Amino acid sequence: MRKKVTVVGAGNVGANCALRIADKELADVVLVDIAEGIPQGKGLDILQSGPVQGYDVSITGSNDYEATAGSDIVVITAGFPRKPGMTRDELLMANYEIVKSAAENAVKYSPNAIFILVTNPLDVMCWAAWKVSGLPKNRVIGMAGVLDTARFKTFLGQALQVSVENISALVLGGHGDTMVPITRLTNVSGIPLSELLDAETINAIVTRTQNGGAEIVEHLKTGSAYYAPSAATVEMVESILKDKKKVLPCAALLEGEYGLNGIFFGVPVKLGAGGIEKIYEVQLTDEEKAAMAKSAASVQEMVDVLKQKAQ
Ligand code: NAI
Ligand code: 2OP
Repeated sequence: MRKKVTVVGAGNVGANCALRIADKELADVVLVDIAEGIPQGKGLDILQSGPVQGYDVSITGSNDYEATAGSDIVVITAGFPRKPGMTRDELLMANYEIVKSAAENAVKYSPNAIFILVTNPLDVMCWAAWKVSGLPKNRVIGMAGVLDTARFKTFLGQALQVSVENISALVLGGHGDTMVPITRLTNVSGIPLSELLDAETINAIVTRTQNGGAEIVEHLKTGSAYYAPSAATVEMVESILKDKKKVLPCAALLEGEYGLNGIFFGVPVKLGAGGIEKIYEVQLTDEEKAAMAKSAASVQEMVDVLKQKAQ
């Protein structure tokens, strides 16, 4: 039987997720949005690419959740993107209401689905979706680390003039300016980064990665990135649907790992048919641990705000 993926939010990220899922012929897709006509129109448009691209999956759009029943995966992209000068944190309360309604409705029709969160502020929205859905922690996963790591690899590939495919890298922590690219564990076909670039260049690339989302917002002026975010999301969807068991940096609920408790945070996980099948605890240096703690504090702060305001 064909797999079924619901994508909530038929905006830039959501529609591109649907398109990429169709292009890879991974599953039937249902796009859901509050905007009337948008998910229906975009769904039909993507469907009509099938004869050209050579895929047979069904793509439909709807304004209600009935059509989503029995989904294997629910991707939540509904929410406002960041505007220039706006921090991810400012999106907190507005997007909380949207994610709450999306998670509550989606879980009603697809109680066995694995939920992938994209809406910002990412780590906190994961926590909100996990709380309101009542899903087990292995079935609520946040997309950020795959995107942040892709940005890091892109900049390294440009600096070194090598294929991005040869770069192995890891960006941990929250999806914000305090994210933690682990340069010590980054290598090019096994050659440590420190043997290829000087510290000043590496630091500049780390900073650019940390501001990777904002750099695109500055260019676009009226929205945020969506091509790389949708590619990153669909890598996670594919690993789950095909039970590939890829090890990817994702936001996962931590219960003691990395000394953290009760927050979603970017860590390496094994993604398979069971959702998060394992969380890997990497040995970190004191400096890396301090950077992780700083990043965790900013996530915890927002979770605390949410706990207070969203009764
Ligand atoms: P967009 O504005 O293009 O699309 C958002 C869509 O959500 C709109 O079509 C809107 O009608 C819909 N929507 C609003 N309220 C809804 C509700 N209650 N139910 C269903 N749909 C609703 O925005 P875009 O660019 O697609 O970004 C979406 C979110 O993803 C933003 O919060 C953005 O910050 C976040 N994002 C996160 C990334 C990450 O790395 N985690 C990367 C890129 C974006
Ligand atoms: C990004 O990193 C806006 O979080 C989004 O592009």
